[in-house]
Amino acid sequence: MVGGAFVFCYRRRSVATYWIGAVEIVAQKVVRKQLPGKLQPRPFHYKFSASRSAALYCGQRSMAPLAAEYGTPLYVYSADHILDRLQLFQSSLAERDHLICYAVKANSALALLQMLARRGAGFDIVSGGELERVRAAAPDALNRVVFSGAGKTADEIDLALEAGIFSFHVESEAELEVLAGRAARLRRKARFSLRVNPDIFAETHPYISTGMSEHKFGIPIAQARRIYRAARSHRWLTAHGVSVHIGSQISSAEPFGAAMTRVAGLVRELRKDGISLPCVDAGGGLGIDYERASGFDPAAVAEAYLRSIEQALEGLNVRLVLEPGRFLVAQAGALLTRVLYVKKNGRKTFVITDAGMNDLIRPALYQAWHEIVPVQRRSGRAVTVDVVGPVCESGDFFARDRSMPPVRPGDLVAILDAGAYGMAQSSNYNSRPRPAEIFVQDRKARLIRRREEMADLLAPEIELM
Ligand code: LLP
Repeated sequence: MVGGAFVFCYRRRSVATYWIGAVEIVAQKVVRKQLPGKLQPRPFHYKFSASRSAALYCGQRSMAPLAAEYGTPLYVYSADHILDRLQLFQSSLAERDHLICYAVKANSALALLQMLARRGAGFDIVSGGELERVRAAAPDALNRVVFSGAGKTADEIDLALEAGIFSFHVESEAELEVLAGRAARLRRKARFSLRVNPDIFAETHPYISTGMSEHKFGIPIAQARRIYRAARSHRWLTAHGVSVHIGSQISSAEPFGAAMTRVAGLVRELRKDGISLPCVDAGGGLGIDYERASGFDPAAVAEAYLRSIEQALEGLNVRLVLEPGRFLVAQAGALLTRVLYVKKNGRKTFVITDAGMNDLIRPALYQAWHEIVPVQRRSGRAVTVDVVGPVCESGDFFARDRSMPPVRPGDLVAILDAGAYGMAQSSNYNSRPRPAEIFVQDRKARLIRRREEMADLLAPEIELM
């Protein structure tokens, strides 16, 4: 790590590295000794039996019996791991006034929201629906909600005003006018931050990069000062902060620091105008190492990230709000699926699983890499396969030309790092009921969402008479 920056790079893996399972267990023991509390860098890991066969575990629970009990496809989350990640942020920021607003869009399971709210987290929402989720899971946390999004409707704004949320993140002048009008009508003060667009390049997939002038998000930072000044005279608006979110799955601290430096400049300019903003919201976006190749150390990554933000804000004495999604939940989750068939078409070998792109769309949508491992390892030579689902599209794949240990029909495989934007982006495409979800905490496994049934899919529909 150099100058507070972290960079983790991506490499393709050979099958030999699957033996990393063994090394990982030892490494985890070593790392755990060095980290505070019981931080576990990897919730999914292999355990070896006396016969040297390896079985995949989530925390202390073996994955195979979970599949037998709850069926497949199944989302399995380590609740312990999520709490560890939250704790990482909270303890690093213990010395300063801060609020962690978990980005609900990453994984909006009610049990997860409840668990995070109990640990003091707030929430970043982007719709009236997400507001209702927070209300259902943790009504006491409504005053810790920030509302982002470029297209809020008047109804959604009313809902959030009535709920008394912490702050609106306003993304255009037109939206600020609507907010002012609704606040006046309801006679409720609206606390707002302008979400500024700092025009910063964050190296990530183009679909999830949001902080450049060509993107739809935010207000050009150069216009913000004028808008804050104009809003000052509005009786029902209170300027409460400034927010920024430059993208997602960002693997270096630099762009965060650069964006914050611009934001800090704006805060200083506004002070000269007599406008003193109490909060700065740095958004989310901190990435993880999907490719698991580079000795990723979450504590060091979080620390470098926070340091780059805090350095930029030095001397400003503002409350720091963060909106992490992926970093808290991605590595805590795996999609457990069963192999239905293994077949050859020409030179290609396809492993067809009972999970499909409707259950996890990230590989199809962002060409995302997810590590895929057998739950029970078989001996034998590695094979190069495409791991695909049953959905009727060639885009329905989890991995292409991937070197994997051999698998057979009936075997279980786990698609790792699927805790963020997995279930949250799932659909019923091909009329496929969505998977069940479970939490693993200590030795206990708990169902947090039952598997959908066809009746759930058909319920809203109206047949012709
Ligand atoms: N705050 C705002 C305003 C956001 O738009 C987002 C994510 C976050 C926070 C949380 O970002 P995170 O910490 O999770 O990177 N579906 C894509 C990711 C989309 C991210 C959208 N915005 C994926 O699967 O990679």
